[in-house]
Amino acid sequence: MSKLAHAQWSSKMTFVLAAAGSAVGLGNIWRFSYMVGDSGGAAFVLVYLICVAVVGMPILVAEWLIGRRAQKNPVNAMAELAGRSGQPRAWALLGASGILAAFLILSFYSVIGGWSLSYTLNSVTGTFTGQDADGVGAIFGNLLASPGVLLLWHTAFMALVVWIVARGVTKGLEGAVRTMMPALVVLMLVLVGYGMTTGHFGEALAFMFRPDWSALTGGVVLAAMGQAFFTLSLGMGIMMAYGSYLGEDVNLLGTARTVIILDTVIALLAGLAIFPIVFANGLSAGEGPGLIFVTLPLAFGNMTGGTVLGLMFFLLLTFAALTSAISLLEPVVEFVEERTPLTRVMATLAGGVAVWALGIAALMSFNVWNVPVLFGLNVFDLLDTFTSKILLPLTGLGAIVFVAWCLERKSVADELNLAGGAEKLWHLVARYVAPIGVVLVFVSSL
Ligand code: PFF
Ligand code: NA
Repeated sequence: MSKLAHAQWSSKMTFVLAAAGSAVGLGNIWRFSYMVGDSGGAAFVLVYLICVAVVGMPILVAEWLIGRRAQKNPVNAMAELAGRSGQPRAWALLGASGILAAFLILSFYSVIGGWSLSYTLNSVTGTFTGQDADGVGAIFGNLLASPGVLLLWHTAFMALVVWIVARGVTKGLEGAVRTMMPALVVLMLVLVGYGMTTGHFGEALAFMFRPDWSALTGGVVLAAMGQAFFTLSLGMGIMMAYGSYLGEDVNLLGTARTVIILDTVIALLAGLAIFPIVFANGLSAGEGPGLIFVTLPLAFGNMTGGTVLGLMFFLLLTFAALTSAISLLEPVVEFVEERTPLTRVMATLAGGVAVWALGIAALMSFNVWNVPVLFGLNVFDLLDTFTSKILLPLTGLGAIVFVAWCLERKSVADELNLAGGAEKLWHLVARYVAPIGVVLVFVSSL
């Protein structure tokens, strides 16, 4: 496909919104807070922040750069750029492993998206009003214990995703993303404000930012790095695919900074909202994937205007989850569309049904099939662990190694508008610090 034939983003803003729509999602609120709680707090948070800055930022830029140069889907992009620079076409495997990761992640992401949908309905019907910790615990427990109900919500969420992707209205969502992001930030601030009234805000601050380094194990470091990849949508070819629609005029480093700051701020606010509630109600920070679903309803059920705020929150969360899920399904659909005679609608249906089916195994991990299937993990934990801790970092590592070692240094510097000391710093980080960081994290977790 020629460069001209490949459509481009109508404006820089459009691209920023799409990238932010993919990045900001359940990862920031649901996954970040439960991982922080599971891993014992501040040490995890600090390693996560370091990973975002030192590994996430260069890899995000590398993925965009690859996509923009090749103007193709991730598999073809890697094959083409590798060919151009005299490297083996096996680099295309990077694109393929990204697509696999997107497929696996969406299967369990949709299950949690379903929880969010279900909590949106619970908010409308006032289910949380006046509940105490036992009450909200029971509501969540009942949801988890009912595979049929979970299936219903998972199906509803996946159906929404498939419907949006099949109709190709993804672009139409940008306006919505533009209003949703600020609204989400404002609501998180309101929740942080509520956290301050619980009398346990200081405890939450200390939990999140005063590290107990003795809690820092190789496993925690790997989990923090995995979270950094997950939350920035890295290592999945998604950012690469977005880069392929990007015009020459977009400043990659500046845009990466914007997206990363937004994503990180929302995650930190989520933590500051959730942990005061945990400590004020004697809940367990290590509750696991249910953490936001047994804490936030307590706030909504007991604060003035909580019903409306709760409804708004779960609607926004569902919407953020949808825009991320769409970005996960896109590469799968594009792949099926290019490799089979299926039309876009049929390709979307086929991809969606496959993801949905795997999601059923994931949701049964919370009830009838909560048994270890491999490495002592149930299907849900296996999908989450295998993707975030192995597949994403390896794919991201490939992207940064390719840009820093296989592409011509001068051309990369020009493309990033870098010169002098700034260029040297980029080169140092991209060539050594980020890749060695990823490898060290792997080694330390063994
Ligand atoms: N980054 C999204 C989040 O934090 O919720 C999740 C996600 C979306 C991961 C798209 C990966 C991806 F390709
Ligand atoms: Na995110």
